Amino acid sequence: MKSNYFITGNAIEELKKLPDGSVDLICTDPPYNLGKDYGNNIDWKQWHEYGQFTLDWLTESKRVLKNDGSLYVFMGVKFISRLFLMLQELGFHFNGWITWHYTQGMGRTKGFSPRHEDILYFTKSDDFTFNNDDVRIPQKYFRERNNMQGANPGDVWEFSHVHYSNPERVKHPTQKPEALMKRIISASSNKGDIVLDPFVGSGTTCVVANFLDRKWIGFDINPEYIEMSENRIKKEINMLDSIDPREDRTPRDLKKFDEAKQASLLLSFAK
Ligand SMILES: C[S@@+](CC[C@H](N)C(=O)[O-])C[C@H]1O[C@@H](n2cnc3c(N)ncnc32)[C@H](O)[C@@H]1O
Repeated sequence: MKSNYFITGNAIEELKKLPDGSVDLICTDPPYNLGKDYGNNIDWKQWHEYGQFTLDWLTESKRVLKNDGSLYVFMGVKFISRLFLMLQELGFHFNGWITWHYTQGMGRTKGFSPRHEDILYFTKSDDFTFNNDDVRIPQKYFRERNNMQGANPGDVWEFSHVHYSNPERVKHPTQKPEALMKRIISASSNKGDIVLDPFVGSGTTCVVANFLDRKWIGFDINPEYIEMSENRIKKEINMLDSIDPREDRTPRDLKKFDEAKQASLLLSFAK
């Protein structure tokens, strides 16, 4: 199947052009229906219309996914519970509710300041790719029973937004962090697999998929964002636009780990 292209178009119509069972991973961050200005489209519909729009693109997504494929959908709190039920009703298999804690944002004076969005992770069947070893993060402590190659990152992830002062920031209002996409794509696809984002925005999903040697396809209804994505994919990326702070940690009692390793080494020489 043709891959490694961006196309300007309506996600539902473009999805309809893809063959059944042709995509390994769909990772997407659709408009949340919160009134964002996306240039040639304003993210605002009556909720029932937004519900139908969501149902339509999810139905097509299910059709184009391979039987062992996975789907990750970003969503804001206002619609997430309905999205969850919709995915279940469409027959997707639930695999995780990931909370993305983005550490800073607007402040509220009457109510708690929002600091998270969520990502629903469903698969098409119970047979799916999950590369646990590719997403491990350093353990917090040395423990005999811990796998010292690293821990599973869990389902609460901390990545800061791509700040406006960041040199990698482009002119898109909801650009997502590359490091976050890297975790999803590394876990749920293999080299050469096809990764699709039907609402690609500034291109983040495809830029990271390309970096990880996956094939990719991206749609967006705004031609300016498609041009932005095309420019971004030609540039070298360094994955520094955000990082999970746990990636940098050293197990607190690593010294004990080193001593244990040395002792077992001495023991093996003595034998
Ligand atoms: C939340 S943004 C995606 C941001 C992206 N993850 C990034 O890192 O830049 C959603 C995108 O969906 C696009 N969009 C809105 N309605 C669409 C539709 N019907 N079909 C395709 N794209 C659409 C908007 O133009 C916007 O760029």
